[in-house]
Amino acid sequence: MHRRKLLQLFWPALPVFPQYLETRGEAPWVPTPDEVIDTMLRLTRVGPNDIVYDLGCGDGRIVIAAAKNFGARGVGIEIEPELVAEARAAAKDARVESRVEFIEQDLFKADFSRATVVTLYLFTRMNERLKPRLLNELKPGSRVVAYQFNGMGDWKPLEVVTTHNHPVYFWVVPDPPR
Ligand SMILES: C[S@@+](CC[C@H](N)C(=O)[O-])C[C@H]1O[C@@H](n2cnc3c(N)ncnc32)[C@H](O)[C@@H]1O
Repeated sequence: MHRRKLLQLFWPALPVFPQYLETRGEAPWVPTPDEVIDTMLRLTRVGPNDIVYDLGCGDGRIVIAAAKNFGARGVGIEIEPELVAEARAAAKDARVESRVEFIEQDLFKADFSRATVVTLYLFTRMNERLKPRLLNELKPGSRVVAYQFNGMGDWKPLEVVTTHNHPVYFWVVPDPPR
């Protein structure tokens, strides 16, 4: 069986063995349900002036929804080439290809400083590793939203909403300390 399909099959059991996958440094592709995407984009109040970055974008569904339903622009960063190809095809089907871009890249090497909204469906440890860059490289007032996994430690979310049995965490990048 294809490795991606196998990982999706075992996703419900992930709370039992997330550390195995986390030590491999990878969150497998598991799509965020549409209802959760809507919650994430509404919590961040995405609009036409926003640039939404989905770090580990899978088949691009969050970025495409942000463009199609909220008029935003978006960039998806994804390490798996076949998912990048799927995302580009899906953007064409949704007729938002002029508003979105998909980049095949390791998200830890990506420049996401242009983002006004960052969406995450990654593991806790991946979020932990991203935290200093989110705080230092995004402009104050930028919004960050994460599904299921937190990892931001003492950077407390402004709001937590439970949907599909899992929390959605919402943060706003604060002004730098004076
Ligand atoms: C749980 S899925 C979330 C997909 C998408 N964001 C969504 O919500 O539908 C995590 C995605 O992150 C990608 N990924 C994992 N590690 C990555 C890395 N280091 N750089 C870029 N993408 C990565 C995986 O290939 C997978 O598509």
